[in-house]
Amino acid sequence: MTIAERALEFVKDGDVVGLGTGRAATAFVRALGARVRAGLQIRGIPTSQVTRALAQEIGIPLTTFDAVETIDIAVDGADEVDPALNLIKGYGGAMVREKIVATAARKFIVLVGTEKLVSVLGERGRLPVEVVPFGVTPCCRRIRALSCEPTPRQTDSGAFVSDNGNAVVDCAIGPIARPAAFEQDLLSIPGVVGSGLFVGLTPTVLVQDGEAVRVLQSSG
Ligand code: A5P
Repeated sequence: MTIAERALEFVKDGDVVGLGTGRAATAFVRALGARVRAGLQIRGIPTSQVTRALAQEIGIPLTTFDAVETIDIAVDGADEVDPALNLIKGYGGAMVREKIVATAARKFIVLVGTEKLVSVLGERGRLPVEVVPFGVTPCCRRIRALSCEPTPRQTDSGAFVSDNGNAVVDCAIGPIARPAAFEQDLLSIPGVVGSGLFVGLTPTVLVQDGEAVRVLQSSG
C-alpha cells in the first residue's frame, strides 16, 4: 500500500478536503480524483495554483473558505518531521497557504518517506521563509542576526514569486533546539509573512517505509 492510498481511508463522503502541494500531495490528489470519479462526494481547497490546476483537470470539485465553515481533513507532504511531529515545509514555496489550510482542518495528515524523519528539525539544513518583496533586504538582515544565512530563492527565469505574490528566502540552518520560539523570532520581523515551521499542529504522519505504511500519531 502507498501512503496516498492509506490517506484515502481517512476521507469520508461529504468531507471538505485540504489539498496539499508537492510530490506526495500530488499522488494523494490523483488518488482522490480517481475516487471522485467513482462517486465519492467531496470538495477540495487547494494550497497552491499548481494543485488547483491539477484538481480541476482531474475533476475534483473545489470550494473556498467563504463557502464552508471548516475543513474536515487536510493532506500534505513535508520536508522534515521530528519525533514530536513538528514539521518543516515549504521547499515547494507553498507553506503559507499550506499552514492556513492545515490549521483550519480538524484533521491534518502528512505524507512522507523515511528520509524526511529527523531527530531535530533543521537537519536537512534549510528553512523557507516567505517575505513581502519590498522587505527582502531588511528581512534578510534581521534573519542573518538570528544566526542563519538567508538566500532569496531564484528560478531559471528570475526571483521566485509565491502564489501570494511574495518572495521566498531559504535560510541555511542547523538543528533548531526550540522551534516554536524560533518561529516567533522570525514572525516578529516586519515583512515576514510566514515560515516553513509547523509546530504543535498534532498531525497524523503516514510514512512510506518500503512497501509498508507506518502511522505516527501525535500524543498531544
Ligand atoms: C510545498 O511548499 C511543500 O511544503 C511540500 O509539501 C514539501 O516540500 C514536500 O514536498 P514533496 O512531497 O515533493 O517532498
